[in-house]
Amino acid sequence: MTLTVNLDEPGYTSSFLADQHAGQLARLRTLERVFDPLSQEVFDQLVLADKPAILDLGAGAGSLAGWLSQRYPQASVTATDIDTRFLTDILGIRVLTHNAATDDFPVASFDVVHARALLCHLGEREDLLTRAITWLRPGGWLVIEDVSLQPSLSAANPLFRKVAQAGITLLEQTVGSDMLWAATLPDRLRDRGLANLGHRTLEGRIGDNSPADTFWAATTAQAGPALLKRGLLEQDDLDGMTRLRADPAFTAAALTLVSAWGQVV
Ligand SMILES: C[S@@+](CC[C@H](N)C(=O)[O-])C[C@H]1O[C@@H](n2cnc3c(N)ncnc32)[C@H](O)[C@@H]1O
Repeated sequence: MTLTVNLDEPGYTSSFLADQHAGQLARLRTLERVFDPLSQEVFDQLVLADKPAILDLGAGAGSLAGWLSQRYPQASVTATDIDTRFLTDILGIRVLTHNAATDDFPVASFDVVHARALLCHLGEREDLLTRAITWLRPGGWLVIEDVSLQPSLSAANPLFRKVAQAGITLLEQTVGSDMLWAATLPDRLRDRGLANLGHRTLEGRIGDNSPADTFWAATTAQAGPALLKRGLLEQDDLDGMTRLRADPAFTAAALTLVSAWGQVV
Protein backbone atom coordinates (compact mmCIF):
# COMPACT_ATOMS: atom_id res chain seq x y z
CA MET A 1 0.00 0.00 0.00
CA THR A 2 1.26 3.52 -0.76
CA LEU A 3 0.36 6.17 1.79
CA THR A 4 -0.01 9.77 0.73
CA VAL A 5 1.35 11.90 3.55
CA ASN A 6 0.09 15.46 4.00
CA LEU A 7 2.28 17.03 6.66
CA ASP A 8 -0.22 19.83 7.38
CA GLU A 9 -3.15 17.57 8.16
CA PRO A 10 -3.47 16.08 11.66
CA GLY A 11 -3.37 12.30 11.75
CA TYR A 12 -1.15 9.44 12.84
CA THR A 13 0.40 8.66 9.45
CA SER A 14 1.53 12.27 8.85
CA SER A 15 2.73 12.89 12.42
CA PHE A 16 6.02 12.53 14.26
CA LEU A 17 4.75 9.11 15.44
CA ALA A 18 4.42 7.66 11.93
CA ASP A 19 6.14 4.54 10.70
CA GLN A 20 8.27 6.28 8.04
CA HIS A 21 10.49 7.80 10.76
CA ALA A 22 13.93 6.26 11.15
CA GLY A 23 13.97 4.61 14.53
CA GLN A 24 10.24 3.89 14.50
CA LEU A 25 10.63 0.11 14.54
CA ALA A 26 13.03 0.33 17.48
CA ARG A 27 10.54 2.63 19.27
CA LEU A 28 7.68 0.18 18.68
CA ARG A 29 9.84 -2.69 19.92
CA THR A 30 10.50 -0.74 23.12
CA LEU A 31 6.77 -0.14 23.54
CA GLU A 32 6.23 -3.89 23.15
CA ARG A 33 8.81 -4.59 25.85
CA VAL A 34 6.94 -2.24 28.18
CA PHE A 35 3.41 -3.42 27.51
CA ASP A 36 3.50 -7.04 26.25
CA PRO A 37 3.91 -8.56 29.74
CA LEU A 38 0.97 -6.47 30.97
CA SER A 39 -1.28 -7.45 28.03
CA GLN A 40 -0.31 -11.11 28.42
CA GLU A 41 -1.44 -11.03 32.06
CA VAL A 42 -4.82 -9.67 30.95
CA PHE A 43 -5.28 -12.48 28.40
CA ASP A 44 -4.10 -15.13 30.86
CA GLN A 45 -7.11 -14.47 33.09
CA LEU A 46 -9.75 -14.55 30.30
CA VAL A 47 -11.48 -17.74 29.22
CA LEU A 48 -11.71 -17.71 25.43
CA ALA A 49 -13.86 -19.75 23.07
CA ASP A 50 -12.42 -22.93 21.57
CA LYS A 51 -10.52 -22.12 18.38
CA PRO A 52 -11.05 -18.39 18.87
CA ALA A 53 -10.91 -15.90 16.02
CA ILE A 54 -8.77 -13.06 17.42
CA LEU A 55 -8.36 -9.58 15.94
CA ASP A 56 -5.51 -7.29 17.00
CA LEU A 57 -6.28 -3.83 15.64
CA GLY A 58 -3.42 -1.41 14.97
CA ALA A 59 -0.97 -4.20 15.71
CA GLY A 60 2.18 -2.10 15.14
CA ALA A 61 5.23 -4.35 14.98
CA GLY A 62 3.12 -7.38 15.87
CA SER A 63 4.77 -8.99 18.88
CA LEU A 64 1.50 -9.35 20.76
CA ALA A 65 -0.27 -10.83 17.72
CA GLY A 66 2.60 -13.32 17.43
CA TRP A 67 2.31 -14.15 21.13
CA LEU A 68 -1.47 -14.64 20.80
CA SER A 69 -1.01 -17.15 17.98
CA GLN A 70 1.43 -19.14 20.15
CA ARG A 71 -0.60 -18.80 23.35
CA TYR A 72 -3.73 -20.09 21.58
CA PRO A 73 -2.45 -22.61 18.99
CA GLN A 74 -6.01 -23.37 17.83
CA ALA A 75 -6.79 -19.69 17.23
CA SER A 76 -6.86 -17.75 13.99
CA VAL A 77 -5.16 -14.43 14.65
CA THR A 78 -5.69 -11.42 12.38
CA ALA A 79 -3.35 -8.45 12.82
CA THR A 80 -4.33 -5.18 11.17
CA ASP A 81 -2.69 -1.80 10.81
CA ILE A 82 -3.07 1.26 8.64
CA ASP A 83 0.62 0.69 7.80
CA THR A 84 1.62 -2.96 7.82
CA ARG A 85 5.30 -2.52 6.96
CA PHE A 86 6.47 -4.02 10.28
CA LEU A 87 4.01 -6.92 10.32
CA THR A 88 6.28 -9.28 8.45
CA ASP A 89 7.75 -12.67 9.26
CA ILE A 90 5.38 -13.36 12.14
CA LEU A 91 4.38 -16.99 12.12
CA GLY A 92 0.73 -17.97 12.34
CA ILE A 93 -0.98 -14.63 11.80
CA ARG A 94 -3.02 -13.10 8.98
CA VAL A 95 -2.07 -9.49 8.20
CA LEU A 96 -4.52 -6.96 6.78
CA THR A 97 -4.15 -3.32 5.86
CA HIS A 98 -7.17 -1.78 7.56
CA ASN A 99 -8.03 1.72 8.72
CA ALA A 100 -9.73 1.19 12.07
CA ALA A 101 -11.24 4.68 11.90
CA THR A 102 -13.22 3.96 8.73
CA ASP A 103 -13.03 0.30 7.69
CA ASP A 104 -15.35 -2.36 9.06
CA PHE A 105 -15.53 -6.12 9.52
CA PRO A 106 -18.69 -8.17 9.09
CA VAL A 107 -20.91 -8.48 12.14
CA ALA A 108 -19.96 -11.38 14.48
CA SER A 109 -16.58 -12.14 12.86
CA PHE A 110 -14.42 -12.53 15.98
CA ASP A 111 -14.25 -14.00 19.49
CA VAL A 112 -11.75 -11.39 20.64
CA VAL A 113 -11.10 -7.84 19.48
CA HIS A 114 -8.01 -6.28 21.05
CA ALA A 115 -6.45 -2.87 20.53
CA ARG A 116 -3.54 -1.36 22.45
CA ALA A 117 -2.26 2.21 22.26
CA LEU A 118 -4.53 2.85 19.28
CA LEU A 119 -7.84 4.41 20.32
CA CYS A 120 -6.20 7.25 22.26
CA HIS A 121 -4.75 8.39 18.92
CA LEU A 122 -7.98 8.23 16.88
CA GLY A 123 -10.57 11.01 16.83
CA GLU A 124 -13.11 8.30 15.97
CA ARG A 125 -12.39 6.35 19.20
CA GLU A 126 -15.97 6.35 20.52
CA ASP A 127 -17.42 5.22 17.19
CA LEU A 128 -14.71 2.57 16.86
CA LEU A 129 -15.57 1.12 20.28
CA THR A 130 -19.21 0.82 19.22
CA ARG A 131 -18.34 -0.75 15.84
CA ALA A 132 -15.78 -3.17 17.32
CA ILE A 133 -18.47 -4.63 19.58
CA THR A 134 -20.58 -5.47 16.49
CA TRP A 135 -17.63 -7.48 15.11
CA LEU A 136 -17.79 -9.79 18.16
CA ARG A 137 -19.77 -13.00 18.41
CA PRO A 138 -21.91 -13.67 21.50
CA GLY A 139 -19.52 -14.45 24.38
CA GLY A 140 -16.71 -12.60 22.62
CA TRP A 141 -14.29 -10.33 24.49
CA LEU A 142 -13.47 -6.72 23.77
CA VAL A 143 -10.05 -5.95 25.27
CA ILE A 144 -8.95 -2.34 24.98
CA GLU A 145 -5.71 -1.02 26.41
CA ASP A 146 -4.63 2.57 26.22
CA VAL A 147 -1.98 4.90 27.48
CA SER A 148 -2.74 7.70 29.93
CA LEU A 149 -0.35 10.58 30.49
CA GLN A 150 -2.58 12.01 33.25
CA PRO A 151 -0.36 10.98 36.21
CA SER A 152 2.60 12.89 34.73
CA LEU A 153 0.63 16.14 34.96
CA SER A 154 0.71 15.98 38.75
CA ALA A 155 4.40 15.01 39.00
CA ALA A 156 6.42 16.97 41.56
CA ASN A 157 9.04 18.22 39.10
CA PRO A 158 7.87 21.35 37.21
CA LEU A 159 10.07 20.75 34.14
CA PHE A 160 8.77 17.21 33.77
CA ARG A 161 5.18 18.47 34.13
CA LYS A 162 5.86 21.07 31.42
CA VAL A 163 7.36 18.49 29.04
CA ALA A 164 4.48 16.07 29.68
CA GLN A 165 1.89 18.80 29.00
CA ALA A 166 3.74 19.80 25.81
CA GLY A 167 3.70 16.17 24.65
CA ILE A 168 -0.03 15.89 25.32
CA THR A 169 -0.68 19.12 23.40
CA LEU A 170 1.54 18.06 20.49
CA LEU A 171 -0.23 14.71 20.22
CA GLU A 172 -3.61 16.44 20.31
CA GLN A 173 -2.64 19.01 17.66
CA THR A 174 -0.76 16.77 15.25
CA VAL A 175 -2.43 13.36 15.65
CA GLY A 176 -5.82 14.12 17.19
CA SER A 177 -4.89 12.05 20.28
CA ASP A 178 -6.51 12.32 23.68
CA MET A 179 -3.89 11.13 26.16
CA LEU A 180 -6.23 11.59 29.13
CA TRP A 181 -9.05 9.44 27.70
CA ALA A 182 -7.81 6.03 28.85
CA ALA A 183 -9.06 6.52 32.41
CA THR A 184 -12.64 6.58 31.09
CA LEU A 185 -12.34 3.18 29.36
CA PRO A 186 -14.08 1.09 32.05
CA ASP A 187 -17.11 3.41 31.90
CA ARG A 188 -17.14 3.36 28.08
CA LEU A 189 -17.36 -0.44 28.08
CA ARG A 190 -20.05 -0.45 30.78
CA ASP A 191 -22.08 2.16 28.86
CA ARG A 192 -22.06 -0.15 25.83
CA GLY A 193 -23.67 -2.99 27.78
CA LEU A 194 -20.73 -5.41 27.99
CA ALA A 195 -20.80 -8.05 30.76
CA ASN A 196 -18.11 -9.52 33.05
CA LEU A 197 -16.25 -6.24 32.99
CA GLY A 198 -12.77 -5.88 34.35
CA HIS A 199 -10.09 -3.25 34.32
CA ARG A 200 -6.60 -2.62 35.58
CA THR A 201 -4.38 0.44 35.68
CA LEU A 202 -0.62 0.08 35.90
CA GLU A 203 1.66 3.04 36.28
CA GLY A 204 4.96 3.20 34.38
CA ARG A 205 7.89 5.36 35.49
CA ILE A 206 10.45 7.63 33.94
CA GLY A 207 13.96 8.05 35.32
CA ASP A 208 14.50 4.46 36.42
CA ASN A 209 16.07 2.93 33.26
CA SER A 210 13.02 0.70 32.89
CA PRO A 211 11.63 -0.14 29.42
CA ALA A 212 8.94 2.55 30.05
CA ASP A 213 11.69 5.08 30.71
CA THR A 214 13.48 4.10 27.48
CA PHE A 215 10.24 4.31 25.47
CA TRP A 216 9.43 7.72 26.94
CA ALA A 217 12.90 9.01 26.01
CA ALA A 218 12.72 7.59 22.46
CA THR A 219 9.31 9.16 21.88
CA THR A 220 10.39 12.54 23.28
CA ALA A 221 13.47 12.47 21.06
CA GLN A 222 11.29 11.72 18.00
CA ALA A 223 8.91 14.53 19.03
CA GLY A 224 11.68 17.07 19.69
CA PRO A 225 11.70 18.90 16.33
CA ALA A 226 7.88 19.16 16.27
CA LEU A 227 7.79 20.43 19.88
CA LEU A 228 10.31 23.16 19.01
CA LYS A 229 8.65 24.04 15.68
CA ARG A 230 5.28 24.56 17.36
CA GLY A 231 6.82 26.57 20.20
CA LEU A 232 5.57 24.11 22.80
CA LEU A 233 9.08 23.76 24.27
CA GLU A 234 12.47 25.48 23.98
CA GLN A 235 15.75 23.67 23.36
CA ASP A 236 16.65 24.52 27.00
CA ASP A 237 13.63 22.50 28.15
CA LEU A 238 14.70 19.45 26.11
CA ASP A 239 18.30 19.72 27.34
CA GLY A 240 17.09 20.15 30.91
CA MET A 241 14.87 17.10 30.55
CA THR A 242 17.83 15.01 29.33
CA ARG A 243 19.81 16.08 32.42
CA LEU A 244 16.84 15.45 34.70
CA ARG A 245 16.32 11.93 33.36
CA ALA A 246 20.01 11.17 34.03
CA ASP A 247 19.72 12.42 37.62
CA PRO A 248 19.68 9.32 39.88
CA ALA A 249 17.39 11.17 42.31
CA PHE A 250 14.69 11.75 39.66
CA THR A 251 11.77 9.47 38.99
CA ALA A 252 8.13 10.24 38.16
CA ALA A 253 4.98 8.60 36.84
CA ALA A 254 4.80 8.20 33.06
CA LEU A 255 3.02 5.98 30.52
CA THR A 256 0.27 4.50 32.62
CA LEU A 257 -1.49 1.61 30.84
CA VAL A 258 -5.22 1.23 31.38
CA SER A 259 -6.59 -2.18 30.32
CA ALA A 260 -10.35 -2.75 30.20
CA TRP A 261 -12.28 -5.78 29.03
CA GLY A 262 -15.86 -6.99 28.78
CA GLN A 263 -17.90 -9.69 27.13
CA VAL A 264 -20.73 -9.51 24.62
CA VAL A 265 -23.79 -11.27 26.03
C1 LIG B 1 1.46 3.32 19.36
S1 LIG B 1 1.39 2.11 18.07
C2 LIG B 1 0.83 0.66 18.98
C3 LIG B 1 1.12 -0.61 18.24
C4 LIG B 1 0.65 -1.89 18.93
N1 LIG B 1 -0.78 -1.90 19.13
C5 LIG B 1 1.34 -2.10 20.25
O1 LIG B 1 0.77 -1.75 21.30
O2 LIG B 1 2.47 -2.63 20.25
C6 LIG B 1 -0.10 2.55 17.20
C7 LIG B 1 -0.31 1.74 15.94
O3 LIG B 1 -1.59 2.08 15.40
C8 LIG B 1 -1.49 2.19 14.00
N2 LIG B 1 -2.57 3.06 13.53
C9 LIG B 1 -2.66 4.40 13.59
N3 LIG B 1 -3.81 4.82 13.05
C10 LIG B 1 -4.48 3.71 12.63
C11 LIG B 1 -5.73 3.47 12.01
N4 LIG B 1 -6.53 4.49 11.69
N5 LIG B 1 -6.09 2.20 11.74
C12 LIG B 1 -5.27 1.16 12.06
N6 LIG B 1 -4.08 1.32 12.65
C13 LIG B 1 -3.68 2.58 12.93
C14 LIG B 1 -0.10 2.76 13.77
O4 LIG B 1 0.34 2.53 12.45
C15 LIG B 1 0.71 2.02 14.84
O5 LIG B 1 1.19 0.80 14.33
